[in-house]
Amino acid sequence: MNTQQLLEAAERSLLFVTDREPAVMQSGSGMYLEDSAGRRYLDFVGGWAVTGLGHSPAELVEALSSQAAQLLNASPAYYNVPMIEFASAITSEAGLSRVFFCSSGAEANESAIKLARKYGKVCKGGAYEILCAEHGFHGRTLATMSASGKEAFRPLFEPKVPGFRHLPFNDATAFERAIGNETCAVLLEPIQGEAGVYPATQDFIERVRSRCNETDTLLIFDEVQTGMGRTGRMFAFEHFDIKPDILTLGKNIGGGFPLAAMLCTEELNLFDKGEQGGTYTGQPLAMAVGLAVLRTTKERDLVKNAERMGAVLQQRLGKLSAEFGLTKIRGYGLLIAFDLPEPKGPDLVHKCFERGLLLNAPAPNVVRLVPPLIIEESHIDEMITVLTEVMRELGVAGTPSS
Ligand SMILES: Cc1ncc(COP(=O)(O)O)c(C=O)c1O
Repeated sequence: MNTQQLLEAAERSLLFVTDREPAVMQSGSGMYLEDSAGRRYLDFVGGWAVTGLGHSPAELVEALSSQAAQLLNASPAYYNVPMIEFASAITSEAGLSRVFFCSSGAEANESAIKLARKYGKVCKGGAYEILCAEHGFHGRTLATMSASGKEAFRPLFEPKVPGFRHLPFNDATAFERAIGNETCAVLLEPIQGEAGVYPATQDFIERVRSRCNETDTLLIFDEVQTGMGRTGRMFAFEHFDIKPDILTLGKNIGGGFPLAAMLCTEELNLFDKGEQGGTYTGQPLAMAVGLAVLRTTKERDLVKNAERMGAVLQQRLGKLSAEFGLTKIRGYGLLIAFDLPEPKGPDLVHKCFERGLLLNAPAPNVVRLVPPLIIEESHIDEMITVLTEVMRELGVAGTPSS
C-alpha cells in the first residue's frame, strides 16, 4: 500500500481516539523517525518521553532478538531468568524492596492505588481516601482518570471511582490539613508532566512527606514520565532528596517496549494471592528490555547527558525569548517546556511537523520538549533553526522594545 492507501485504511479501521498528522511512521534510528513516503523527522517528542535510548537502539534490538529466540513467554505462573534479574536491578537502583511489573503507566498507578487501599484496610483502620493534585495526570483507566486532576476528565465516564480528592498542587497547607484518619495515601507527580511541566517545590514535597510520616499515610510518586533518567537524575525524587513509599515507573523503563512497574518498601508486600497480577507481568521480552535499558542508560552515562543537554536546551531557548516572547522556560533535564505569548501551540507543532521536526503542545500556549536522552548539541541546533523559522512564519512575537 502507498501512503495514501495506508491513511485511508487507517481512517476506516482504527477506532477514533485522537487526531493524528497525515503520516505513517515506518522506521526509526537514533533521534530520527522516517515515514512511509521517506520523509525524516527530528524527534523531540520521543513517543511522549518514552524512547530514552532513541529509535531502534542496537542494545534493545539485541536484547529483544536474543530473548525472543530463547524464551518468548513463560506464563506469569512461573519465574523466568530476566524477571528475577530485572527485579533485583530496578529495586536496588531505586532503593526500594519490591516490584510488580505491568505494561503501562496507568496499570502501574492502578496497582499503586490498590496497594494503598490494601494498606489502609490492613494497617490504618480502613482508610481508603487518596489525595491527589489538581492538574495531575495518572493514566486513562477509570481509576487513574478518577485520580487525575485534569479538568477535561472531570465530566467524563461518570460515575468515577470514588475515594479521590484533588487539592492545589504545591499548596502544602491544603495537603497538611486534608491528610487525616481516612487518608491511606497521597499520590503526586514530583514534576507534573502532562499539565505542562510544573515542578513541585521543595517545601511542598518536604511538608507532605513529613505529614504523611506523622499520620502513617503513604506517599506515592508517579514517576511514569520523570523516571529512568529523564530529569537528569535516575529518579526525580532525587532532586528533592525525599523517598516515596511507592514509586511508579513506565515510559522510558521500556525504551519504547510496553513496560511499567510499581515499586514499594518491604512493609508494603501486602497483597494476598490473586489480588494483583496479570497475564504479562514479568513477561521475559519486557524484562530483558528493561534490563538492557537500565544497563545502557548507566553504561552510556545518559542521565548525565540529560542534565547537560537539558541545560544547553534551556540556554538556547532563553536566547529566543526576547524576539518571540517565550516565557517560563522550565523543567529538569530533558523534560522542558516554555510558554508562548499566544495560544499558537497546535499551529506551531503542525508547521514544525511539516518541516520535519516533532514537538508537543500539552496546552495551547505551552510547548513541551522530551527528546531521547541520547541527544547531542547538533540536534539542538537543528531543532532551534526550525523552531525559529516557524515562529517567524507564525508571527509569534515578544513585546517590542521601545
Ligand atoms: C505521570 C504519568 N502517569 C501515568 C501516565 C500513563 O501512562 P500510560 O500512558 O503508559 O498508561 C502518564 C502518561 O503520559 C504520565 O505522564
